[in-house]
Amino acid sequence: MSAVAQPRIALLHGPNLGMLGRRPSQHYGTFTLFDLERMVREWGAERGMRVGCFQSDHEGAFLEHVHGITGIVDGAIVNPGAWTHYQWSIRDALESLGAPFVEVHISDVEERAKAEPHRGVSVVREKALAAVWGKGPDGYREALDILREHLS
Ligand code: DQA
Repeated sequence: MSAVAQPRIALLHGPNLGMLGRRPSQHYGTFTLFDLERMVREWGAERGMRVGCFQSDHEGAFLEHVHGITGIVDGAIVNPGAWTHYQWSIRDALESLGAPFVEVHISDVEERAKAEPHRGVSVVREKALAAVWGKGPDGYREALDILREHLS
């Protein structure tokens, strides 16, 4: 495969992630979604990647956004929030994206699953190129590197 010149990367966040900064800090830190998107855009720019950001609390809006970027983006970083654990329509949409995606979680979902078993389930993981969790914002930088390596 030949390298994509300036890969277009979609950064997609699902429900409640617009509330970062006001969610339990032991799991999510104190940064806002605005802070996070800025970091990922900057990390992307350092790597020659263009990052476009989207967040929604509405399943239909999220699905329509994924449909709209299908066949257009070169890769995606997706934190589906609680949808991760049960929302098959999100999996189906991501499966059709036509580009690899990395699933990212800010918190350590595997550790949290010991007390909240649903967090140990991901219905999108099987379709993902890779999954990163428990590393806070750094997990998104790792996801960019995984995509860059894959696209080169
Ligand atoms: C999350 C983990 C999910 O279990 C939770 O529902 C979220 C955020 C994370 O980034 O750690 O909303 O995806």
